[in-house]
Amino acid sequence: MPELVDGLDSKSSAFGFVGSSPTAPIPLEPVHPVMDTYSRYPLTLKKGRGCWLWDDQGRRYLDCVAGIATCTLGHSNPAMQKALGRQLGRLQHVSNLYRIPEQEQLAGWIAGHSCADRVFFCNSGAEANEAAIKLARKYGHTRRGIERPVILTAQASFHGRTLAAVSATGQPKYHQGFEPMVEGFRFFPYNDTAAFEALLQECEADGPRVAAVLLEPLQGEGGVNPGDPAFFARVRQLCDERDILLIFDEVQVGVGRSGCLWGYQKLGVEPDAFTLAKGLGGGIPIGVLAVNRRADVLRPGDHASTFGGNPFACRAGLTVVAELERRQLVAHAGRMGELLAGLLGELVDRHPQQLAGVRGWGLLQGLVLQPDGVTAPELVAEAMAHRLLLVPAGPGVVRFVPPLVIKPRQLRLAVRRFEAALTSLVASRTAAAPADLTPPKAPS
Ligand SMILES: Cc1ncc(COP(=O)(O)O)c(C=O)c1O
Repeated sequence: MPELVDGLDSKSSAFGFVGSSPTAPIPLEPVHPVMDTYSRYPLTLKKGRGCWLWDDQGRRYLDCVAGIATCTLGHSNPAMQKALGRQLGRLQHVSNLYRIPEQEQLAGWIAGHSCADRVFFCNSGAEANEAAIKLARKYGHTRRGIERPVILTAQASFHGRTLAAVSATGQPKYHQGFEPMVEGFRFFPYNDTAAFEALLQECEADGPRVAAVLLEPLQGEGGVNPGDPAFFARVRQLCDERDILLIFDEVQVGVGRSGCLWGYQKLGVEPDAFTLAKGLGGGIPIGVLAVNRRADVLRPGDHASTFGGNPFACRAGLTVVAELERRQLVAHAGRMGELLAGLLGELVDRHPQQLAGVRGWGLLQGLVLQPDGVTAPELVAEAMAHRLLLVPAGPGVVRFVPPLVIKPRQLRLAVRRFEAALTSLVASRTAAAPADLTPPKAPS
């Protein structure tokens, strides 16, 4: 039987099946020239403005997905249109053979507003983590004298789909079918200090083995699990004691979404390196590995990317951060996050049989479902029928990750639409229940 998996995102299927039995017939006629790596909702979006999207039938949806925490300024943002239009008229791409002023400017902004000193540019979150993994290994070899460096990462983490990034991801479902994984990763339960200390002790029993610890400040895909400041403080302390790098994956939570510019600010713990992607480009692909002086070990020839940090992508990043500053969107995300969490909390109080709680930071909120009720993929599909776009974070959590420009009345509307979807889904379940109990007819 194929496996039904969780939410429609870049990772898995929302409402369909993935995987197939080895004996299943191979379809002879591919229906579509696009490869079958995603189970997509039957929705074609044609136009966007702010937090609204229109489909090919002219129906309007309130977007609380934002391209999965990516469209920071919403859709068709005027500042983006103007800046990117101008950039296209001037220069889109050259090569990292040459100096790129837009890249230097964006690197300067990131370094000037974070604990990092230097920045490497690539094109996605997975690539940024790939760069971080290479950096960690080089650090392990050169600074700690480790022959076969190990990186410790958390269970339920998500770091991307390239082979090393997926190997670093502590969710076996993403490994299945692609073994052998890249070696050199060990996993521990997120926020579990005792388990982390025990694993570190075990790995280092015969001398230095661990090059780095790689953690999301808040686990997004893994179910919207915020980091525990006490746990992170202890990890920082142990990394310092042993000269191990602490690397944060800020791909989903970084660039203002948490209500702070960086997720690590919510924890009060600074990493040696962190990765960014998603929200930095506001919809234009960009990835970043940012490092402090201690972690700055990559040298010419060690790593590269053809597209990484080209003028167009960096102009997108520069425009996003300029708008964040001009419109004070980080503070706005914090305020809107409080409003959203409050509204969702009231919803939980009204529907305790279906909803178990709310967790998250800023505009990355997860509505936790009761274990035996409706599932996140079902709710997301029903919300779509109510013209609201949401995304699951696993089977038991519905994620609200709207553009950072969302307004209070839009959040109230989103929660009203969500409640209508929940009510109608539960009602349809209840109505269907007696029919399910009718014994099947005997074959005639
Ligand atoms: C925390 C985190 N890291 C890495 C990635 C991978 O990013 P990308 O899909 O851009 O490769 C994601 C994507 O969801 C993510 O949430």
